[in-house]
Amino acid sequence: MSVGIEQLAVYVPPYVLSLDALAAARGVPAEKFREGLGVREMAIAPPCEDVVTLAASAGARALRASRIDPGDIGMLLVATETGVDHAKPVSIFVHELLGIGRQCRVYELKHACYAGTAALMSAADWVRAGGTRPRRALVIAADIARYAIGSPGEPTQGAGAVAMVVGREPGSLVLGEESGTYAGNVYDFWRPLGRREAMVDGKYSVECYLEALAGAFTAYRALERPALGADEPLSARLARFLYHTPFPKMAVKAHRRLLELDWRATAARAAGETDRLEEAMVASHRDAVAPGLEAVARVGNTYTASLYLCLAALLEREGSRLAGQRLGLFSYGSGCCAEFFTGLVPTGVAVQAGVAELLRERTAIDIEAYERLVREGDAGGEPPPGFTGEFVFQGVRDERREYARFAPALAA
Ligand code: CAA
Repeated sequence: MSVGIEQLAVYVPPYVLSLDALAAARGVPAEKFREGLGVREMAIAPPCEDVVTLAASAGARALRASRIDPGDIGMLLVATETGVDHAKPVSIFVHELLGIGRQCRVYELKHACYAGTAALMSAADWVRAGGTRPRRALVIAADIARYAIGSPGEPTQGAGAVAMVVGREPGSLVLGEESGTYAGNVYDFWRPLGRREAMVDGKYSVECYLEALAGAFTAYRALERPALGADEPLSARLARFLYHTPFPKMAVKAHRRLLELDWRATAARAAGETDRLEEAMVASHRDAVAPGLEAVARVGNTYTASLYLCLAALLEREGSRLAGQRLGLFSYGSGCCAEFFTGLVPTGVAVQAGVAELLRERTAIDIEAYERLVREGDAGGEPPPGFTGEFVFQGVRDERREYARFAPALAA
């Protein structure tokens, strides 16, 4: 049975900060961010948005694009590491805002940047377990990445959400049934209760990511069907590679490690063609990785949504060219858990995830405005002019968060 992503839609908040401006403000050469990290801009949420409104705006777009009745959603999963309450899940606010029916399994998932994949896999298994019953799930990955002002992580912030309708008519991506997984307790990135900004052991986190990639990819190679021949690299069967991308240079490092592992696993190549590896890596990155990184370089890290932002932007840009081909996807969540899996782009794929349009419509803010937003926190309030979201966080009253649908006609 084919199970996978029927439709996907993206939402990114309306403010954008140029990383050249951030570099100038921090006294860092612009090339360090542009070349060293591969980032150009980062998305910033206004005070009237939090992770609930980001998730709900992406979810509303996905439901409209797939033309399904919200009442047909039997499972709603929201993956985030930017939770708004220690007990009440983000997903139940989203459930109400989207008008999803009562007969629905609703919960929030957290495992750093891995939770979006945990949600997608849980939803796919639930659809498969339903046999011929027409089960449909809505999976939303949403996050706001925050690091301290002036810290090395600061240029890798971002915000956004990706919503995916998961079911038995996967018009966007057919999920492979095998996954290579890897887990281990590491302190590479964390956010103690009560802290707004993440803590991170930056260089160590890069090592942990690459080690987890090695573990998950090696596990997957053994599960690939039909089984790989002794001299056959898995990479030759995959047209594109998408990685969890905290910053685009991380995907460059990840792809290099993956190709090394893949080549070393093929006895004849490892012996005879090692000298060609460097050349092959450059070409493979250019053709099979770089096309999926443009959006993320302009949005920044969206933590658990990051891999799926890359997927949505890639399918929107060149889905029909990729029809009939397989993609390799790698998900990493600090702490850590990782998964390598594959998906087939079906014929007839037509993804309009909204990425290009949202990036065009954003409002540029300067460093003063950015730092003011950080200082003021997510207090809630009125949407700014040109607001593209569909829901507004109004604020906290009596320790309760209040949300409303945004009606531009009323605001004008
Ligand atoms: N021109 C061009 N490149 C330059 C440069 C210049 N003038 N100056 C420096 N660079 C390059 C460096 O050579 C380096 O490149 P390589 O890694 O290829 O060697 C790169 O810019 C980064 O510079 P630094 O080595 O000085 O590192 P940094 O202090 O800027 O920190 C970081 C980088 C550790 C990634 C930091 O941004 C950080 O802590 N980020 C948050 C953590 C993170 O994203 N970790 C990723 C793995 S964990 C994960 O994936 C989960 C998650 O989402 C958080």
